[in-house]
Amino acid sequence: MKPSTAQKFKNPRARHGFEGRTCSIAGVGSYVPERILTNADLEKMVETTDEWILSRTGIKERRLAADDEFTSDLATHAALRAMENAGVTAGQIDLIIVATCTPDMPFPSTACLVQQKIGARQAAAFDIEAACSGFVYALEIGQQFIMSRTYDTVLVIGAEKLSTVVDWSDRNTCVLFGDGAGAAVLQHRPQAHGLLTACMGAEGDKAELLCMPGGGSRRPATLESVAARLHYLRMDGKETFKNAITAMCTAVHQALQRCEIDITQIQCVIPHQANRRIIDAVGERLGVKPEQLFVNLEKYGNTSAASVAIALDEAVRSGRIQRGDLVLLVVFGAGLTWAAAIIEW
Ligand SMILES: CC(C)(COP(=O)(O)OP(=O)(O)OC[C@H]1O[C@@H](n2cnc3c(N)ncnc32)[C@H](O)[C@@H]1OP(=O)(O)O)[C@@H](O)C(=O)NCCC(=O)NCCS
Repeated sequence: MKPSTAQKFKNPRARHGFEGRTCSIAGVGSYVPERILTNADLEKMVETTDEWILSRTGIKERRLAADDEFTSDLATHAALRAMENAGVTAGQIDLIIVATCTPDMPFPSTACLVQQKIGARQAAAFDIEAACSGFVYALEIGQQFIMSRTYDTVLVIGAEKLSTVVDWSDRNTCVLFGDGAGAAVLQHRPQAHGLLTACMGAEGDKAELLCMPGGGSRRPATLESVAARLHYLRMDGKETFKNAITAMCTAVHQALQRCEIDITQIQCVIPHQANRRIIDAVGERLGVKPEQLFVNLEKYGNTSAASVAIALDEAVRSGRIQRGDLVLLVVFGAGLTWAAAIIEW
């Protein structure tokens, strides 16, 4: 086992005399639905080609949930796998946080539905909405409860059934997204630092770049709103692309600075899996070597809040991440929102 980074640098949380507990990721899990939608399938649905999709995005296929499989079901599968991985029972869970922008219903929260499905009767439960940045936002929120000694075990899930908000007649967006879920169990583990820092940001004046205009209090669902297709996501792809690169780089610089480390010390960089060209541009600007990057978007496309959660689970299970490694998660999404987290595994 590698020496703990605890010996190498100070946890930034410990500055300013903060005496909170550290918070570790005790287990991870993920789930993707069985049904695969390939680029060849999309060629039959809209005017596109496998070559266009692959060269502009890096995506080969994505998963679609069944009609009777909802965000809470995807979340539940991922949660049970993370709990098993952590060796935690439902009765031990104090809090469930689900990050999603495609909840089963506007209310109650999807977290409450998961609480019922996994039988975590003691747990408090709520959702957070930070779009594709949601999982890292939720990790940071969960961590605060562990550090403050409010709770001992927090279940954090990123889960999406984006196929329900994608306009399958719009080639500009429908090729990009997929369904899935990833989860992490947070606990204090005395020998590890765990989550070292998470730098989060938002820019609400760019909210229009990526949004779902209908179905909320501004434009409730009506016959007219549905006819105008306002209940599907809308995106300015080019502007979103540019903003993603800038925001992700800024977040990573802040996180590295807080931990007083540089990018070469990170063993595994897991970026939001939205577009291969965004990932490569961010990697290039930050000086990330190809062997540091973990990418699985060719299989799943952009699964929003589930994206880095699924990738983290796959990286851990494949042995790509070892105990003691430093892992960087960096995300970007509607809001606009962004975040970067550094974890000592
Ligand atoms: C959407 C995206 C892949 C488009 O790539 P791009 O290189 O910017 O492509 P452009 O916008 O220049 O479009 C070029 C042309 O391809 C067309 N096009 C768009 N989607 C297409 C598709 N699926 N198949 C074929 N052609 C397509 C456009 O209509 C445009 O045609 P036009 O010039 O005749 O109008 C890219 O902008 C992107 O990934 N943006 C960020 C999206 C994202 O990550 N969102 C989530 C953030 S969390």
